[in-house]
Amino acid sequence: MAKNGYSPEFMRELKEKNNLVEIAAQYMSLDKRGYNYWACCPFHHEKTPSFTIQAAEQYYHCFGCGVSGDVVNLVMEMESLSFPEAVKYLAARAKMPMPEMNFDSERTAELKKKKDRLLKVLLTSARFYLQNLYGGNAREHMEYIERRGISPGIVKKFGLGASLDYDSLPELLLDSGFTREEIEESGVCSLNARGKLFDAQAGRLIIPIINAFDEVIGFGGRILGKKTEGQAKYKNTKETMLFNKRKTLYNVNLLKKYKQKNAVPYVIMVEGYMDVISLYQAGFCNVVASMGTSLTQEQARMLKRYAENVLISYDGDFAGQNADLRGLEILKEENLNVKVVLMPDGEDPDDVVRKRGAAAYQNCLDNALPLVDYKLHSLERKYDLTRAEDKRAYAQAAMPVVREAASAAEQEALLKIVRDKTGFTYQSLSRDLEETLPERRAAAPVSLPRGAREKGDKVHKARRFLLGAVLFGLPYAARYALDEADFPDEVHRAVVRYISFCRETDQPVRVTDLFEIFGENTPEFNAILDLNTEERLFGVGAERYFKDCERTLARWRIQEKMTALNERLNAETDVTVRRRLAEELTALTGELKNYQTYR
Ligand code: UTP
Ligand code: MN
Repeated sequence: MAKNGYSPEFMRELKEKNNLVEIAAQYMSLDKRGYNYWACCPFHHEKTPSFTIQAAEQYYHCFGCGVSGDVVNLVMEMESLSFPEAVKYLAARAKMPMPEMNFDSERTAELKKKKDRLLKVLLTSARFYLQNLYGGNAREHMEYIERRGISPGIVKKFGLGASLDYDSLPELLLDSGFTREEIEESGVCSLNARGKLFDAQAGRLIIPIINAFDEVIGFGGRILGKKTEGQAKYKNTKETMLFNKRKTLYNVNLLKKYKQKNAVPYVIMVEGYMDVISLYQAGFCNVVASMGTSLTQEQARMLKRYAENVLISYDGDFAGQNADLRGLEILKEENLNVKVVLMPDGEDPDDVVRKRGAAAYQNCLDNALPLVDYKLHSLERKYDLTRAEDKRAYAQAAMPVVREAASAAEQEALLKIVRDKTGFTYQSLSRDLEETLPERRAAAPVSLPRGAREKGDKVHKARRFLLGAVLFGLPYAARYALDEADFPDEVHRAVVRYISFCRETDQPVRVTDLFEIFGENTPEFNAILDLNTEERLFGVGAERYFKDCERTLARWRIQEKMTALNERLNAETDVTVRRRLAEELTALTGELKNYQTYR
């Protein structure tokens, strides 16, 4: 039962102490009707409510988009957290100790204390930089901001600040009671050769880097003018206990807030801080930046919490750089849909919105290329296609790319591009493609549950209804004996096992327990839940329908037996055995009649 690593007792207490209705009320306005609550669905962003909360059962379901889940699922979605993070969040809210704190709790507590101290150093520094910017001594910084066309509102929103010198930050931090070690370890200051602390960002425009919990974990600092020898344009806080570039997405904090109010069909991924700020100002709020490095798996997983689709919007000249292509593969491996936004050479998103306007950038987004197309496009740039030998080399290099296309139709479209670029005939290219084809992978077998395949929907729906009625404790289903053998569907089977477990151990059957087994996107489980929300289990005729379902399933059992018998009969040569089998078949045919259904 504890598939997620937490004991059922812990999860039960967690859910009891975090009432779904209360939690949901933080994110949406709820309208009570009868026992249930209604709201506009936060997941598909609608105008009329189709999101229900079943207060007694402590789960939600949306009739519009079909999502459902319990309080943990809701927090995962609304706070964009992973399962363990959501559990932690709810445990903290309910002041429950986390079970894993039990082992080595001293060390964990110590680390936590340290982390809190470092966060305070960062926050104090961020406030200090902010005051500097508005304090009258940051004329150069202000002028720089104006030159870049960043509005005062956006400067505030992103918490930009100014470092004015080397010494005032360490002085302030020491005066505030932080130790030299804490200051150094937080990354905001470094030690010079004589062991003196100095502001690591001395003189720069400060861009706070904030995580999804609104904590400042580091800074990016930009020089104001042209860079001089040995000076980096941007300087980031060194890697610390709080700041791990591989796990950081710049602007994830605002993206999270944006997602709580808006549908996010895709996230725009850019390279730089300034691209984020500029795009945000131009109304593209669903934007994040990697930290100047190639994308990591950790970042890809984080992204996935915000959207299924990613538009890569790197600088116009990144085409074909292998490190970046690898980053895109990582996104694909995490099952994100990737498209690449093409931009004028030498311009980045910031340049495009500022010079050409938001509409021009939107146009770039609209014309983003799917990853394969983009690869083909970037490949082309490596060759001089006016030369015959380059044409051949290009066509050859293009084949593995074309092969990656998901469908035959896409492959065809790509081949046509290669044809148009090279002048080779479609036929010859297509032959080349065949030759480079790996052994065809067999299509994954589609495994329908046996009952569903043979008798269509009817048996499947009957099983669903039987399970729903038992699960929701309808009196007419109280005595129904569940048999795993009747339920070929995985989800059904898990429900049967759970109910049997409860019955054997004399525990109440609780729907919320099942959310720990099924994710919120288990359609078959949602279909069972729907029966309850649609009140089909209670309505007039529900009990009669239940009896009907019992009969449907009984008929299915007999038919299964008959199929098996028939097979044996066909293979059998011994006359006496054949006769016996035939008699059994006749008996079963008679039995079938006893289970006539009326629908
Ligand atoms: P870019 O040089 O493309 O930055 O670096 P940009 O955003 O266009 O900068 P502006 O417009 O000139 O201000 C992209 C990202 O790479 C990292 C930073 O995260 C930057 O935002 N970077 C770049 C560094 O860490 N150090 C550098 O010296 C340069
Ligand atoms: Mn730029």
